[in-house]
Amino acid sequence: MPVPTAFARDQWYVAAYGSEVGGEEILARTVCGEPMALYRTPDGHAVALADRCVHRRYPLSEGTLEDGRLVCGYHGFTYDRAGACVSVPGQTRVPRTARVTSYPLAELDGFVWVWIGDPARADVSAVPRAPWLADPAWTVVRGMEPLNARYGLLVDNLLDLSHETFLHAGYIGTPEVAATPITTEADEERGIVRVSRHMDDAECPPFYADSTGLKGRVSRWQDIEYHAPCLYLLHSRIAPVGSVPGADGSDPDAFHTEVAYAITPSTETTTYDFWLVARDFAREDEGVSAFLHDFNRTVVLQDVTALDILERVTAEEEGRRVQELSIGIDAGGLAARRVLERMIARSAKRDEGAPAAGVPGAATAAVAVAPEAGAAR
Ligand code: FES
Ligand SMILES: [Fe+2]
Repeated sequence: MPVPTAFARDQWYVAAYGSEVGGEEILARTVCGEPMALYRTPDGHAVALADRCVHRRYPLSEGTLEDGRLVCGYHGFTYDRAGACVSVPGQTRVPRTARVTSYPLAELDGFVWVWIGDPARADVSAVPRAPWLADPAWTVVRGMEPLNARYGLLVDNLLDLSHETFLHAGYIGTPEVAATPITTEADEERGIVRVSRHMDDAECPPFYADSTGLKGRVSRWQDIEYHAPCLYLLHSRIAPVGSVPGADGSDPDAFHTEVAYAITPSTETTTYDFWLVARDFAREDEGVSAFLHDFNRTVVLQDVTALDILERVTAEEEGRRVQELSIGIDAGGLAARRVLERMIARSAKRDEGAPAAGVPGAATAAVAVAPEAGAAR
């Protein structure tokens, strides 16, 4: 089963960080092949409209904002946040079909999530959560790197961290990562894959040694939770060898980082790689923040370089009979491929006969907005 290139529809995807949406700026992003223009109304609501004017298809992201309405930069068609055109130049009558898709949107945990699929199925309670990313008890560094590779390659990469030993040697990889077996479980119905690797006596890589002060051998746990298709969580624990959490969950000798990725397909061969590192230690230390930001970005860029290469060779081999050889370390990645294929097949089946998204005149989304407290900026 190759990595998928098709998109699972009827799913939530991260289009942006909340902090990227606001002010006079209109942000252009393409999610699952759908170009969208993101902006914020004066009352703080983030909006995502299809990024093509209904008139001559000029990108709305090239327009301007006036009192929370988006004015097309070409001839001035003006849209409200539900995507309805409220004025056109040269006439008072606005054609009934003058409207663009307004994507259902939820702003949670610092992310702007958009719903790709049938708006009637958008359920904000189904957005997977990562609460520590917007919790003042945690300090977060983050970034986003665009990837010239299909999203399935990034899913594969993140579900199998044995690559840390080789691709990230001297950064986050040590011999024990590749040497330690994993346990994997998949809840295919809910689209969740869990992969755990507990190293009880391992070298402490610079990423953790320099940020925590722990030196020498450590206990290092990696517990992955992938909420397909978009959200990847890595619960990471570093502690002195022999230290284990108490029965009540207390873990005073350990350092915890909550690493998150939002894996958002842009086109079939490009991806947004949103990455975040939240920590519960040295929370006020800006030196530690700068170190973790720069260090993690370097590690992400090592993946980006490798995955861009892999995309090139995968594309060259398209249509040829090529075979991969999977082993034990691939259990998580293979489970994720199965979960994704199932989601893709399900949504394709539901989509049969449904009108294409973004078509002018198609039913416009009932916008399910869940503005985050303090989101206005
Ligand atoms: S293309 Fe937008 S108003 Fe003409
Ligand atoms: Fe990596």
